[in-house]
Amino acid sequence: MTAANQRSLVPETNIERDQALCESLFTALRDATSDGIGITRESFGAGESLALDIVESAAREAGLETERDAGANLVVTLRGTDAELPFVACGSHLDSVPQGGNFDGGAGVIAGLAILAGLKRDNFVPRRTLKLFGLRGEESAWFGKAYMGSSALFGRLTPDDLASPHAVSGRPLSDCMGDVGADIDRIARGEPLLDSRRIAAWIELHIEQGPVLVARDLPIGIVTGIRGNVRHRTVECVGEAGHSGAVPRWLRRDAVFAVAELITHLDRHWRTLLERGRDLVITSGVMGTDSTEHAIARIPGSVKFSFEARSQSQETLEAFYDLFISECASIGDDRGVEFKLDRRLQSSPATMDPGWVDRLRTAARELGLPDETIPSGAGHDAAVFANAGIPSAMIFVRNENGSHNPFEAMKIDDFMKGVAVMRKVLAEAIT
Ligand code: GLV
Ligand code: MN
Ligand code: MN
Repeated sequence: MTAANQRSLVPETNIERDQALCESLFTALRDATSDGIGITRESFGAGESLALDIVESAAREAGLETERDAGANLVVTLRGTDAELPFVACGSHLDSVPQGGNFDGGAGVIAGLAILAGLKRDNFVPRRTLKLFGLRGEESAWFGKAYMGSSALFGRLTPDDLASPHAVSGRPLSDCMGDVGADIDRIARGEPLLDSRRIAAWIELHIEQGPVLVARDLPIGIVTGIRGNVRHRTVECVGEAGHSGAVPRWLRRDAVFAVAELITHLDRHWRTLLERGRDLVITSGVMGTDSTEHAIARIPGSVKFSFEARSQSQETLEAFYDLFISECASIGDDRGVEFKLDRRLQSSPATMDPGWVDRLRTAARELGLPDETIPSGAGHDAAVFANAGIPSAMIFVRNENGSHNPFEAMKIDDFMKGVAVMRKVLAEAIT
C-alpha cells in the first residue's frame, strides 16, 4: 500500500465535536484554577494537579489509556499496531505563572487531547503509537528553574536544581515533586525516565506569547527555533545604609544608584549587540529595596533584583553574560558596592527540526492556511525534547494581549486551525 493510500485511511474528523470538547476543557481548567484575577497552577502544586486530573478524566471518558509517568506527568496513549516503532509524542505543560492566562501551556495539551479523542472516536487504529504528555513544571516562576517536568524525563535535573527553594514556601523542588508522586530517587540519580530513541518526534502547539502574529494578521505560525536564556533569580547589590541628608555624594555607597547605573550600561550593551545583528532580550523582572527597612530618608544599603538574558545564540548569551559580570565588578569598584550573585541558571537555545517544520508548513498550505515561520522568543518544553536529540516542532496560535498575564486572548477559530494542522501531520506520521 502506498503512503498516499495509507493516509487516506485517516478518517475526517468531526470538527464541531472536537471544538466542543476543547471549549469545555478550557472552561473547566479556567473554573478550577481561577484565582480571582487570572489563573494559578503552581508547578508541582495543587492547581497543576487539578489541571492534570481534569484532562485525564476527559481522556478516560474518550476511551483513551491514561497513566502518570515516573515524573508524575500525565500520559495519554492511542496505541498503534506496531509496538516496535518509536512513538510520536505531543503535548505541552499544565502549570502556569501566578495570576497567568488560561492558554499558556493548556492550549497544547487540549489540542493533543482533541486529536487523540477524535481518532479514538472514529475507531482509527494507527500503526505507530501516539502519546500526549500533560507536563508538569515548565514555568520558572516557582523554582527559578524552567522545564523541570520535561528535564526530569531525560535525567537532566541536577542536585542543585532539585534543591531549588520554592519562591513562596521555600520548600525544595525535590520535596514538591515527591508530593505529587514523582519518583525522586530515579530523578536524583539522573536516570532518564524516557528513552529518547523511542520517540520519533515531539510536536507542541502553543499560543504565541508576543505580538507578531496579531500584528501580521496570521492565525498560526510555524516555529523555527526557541531562545535559550541565562538567569539569576536574585542578585543582591550591597552598599551601605545611611542618613539621606547627612552623607555627601562622595561618601555614599548607594545600592539603588549602583543598580540603576548597571541597568543603564546593560541597556547600552544590548543596543550595541542588536546593531550588530545579534538576537537578544534583557529583563530585570523583580527588583526592590527591603520594605521592612527602606524609607524616603534612608540611603538604600541593599537592592535585590533578578537578571535574565535570552537569545537564539548561546555565544551571544555568553558574551552578554561576560559583559554583565564585568559591569558588576567595575560599578562595584566605582561606587563601593558589591554585587552578590546566586546560582546561575540556564536553558540552551534550540532549533526545530527542518523536516518537521516542512511537514507543518505543507499541512498548513494544504489546509488553505498561511505557512509562515516565526522564531519563539519564549521558552517551551520543545527545547528540552529537541536538545535531547528528538526531532521537534511547534505550531504557534495567534493570541492577543501577550502572555504571563490574565489577559491572554486566543480565538477558538484560530486554535482550531492550529489543531487541524497538528492533526494532519500527526495522523500522517502514525498511519
Ligand atoms: C516560559 O514560559 C518562558 O518563561 O519563556
Ligand atoms: Mn509560560
Ligand atoms: Mn508555555
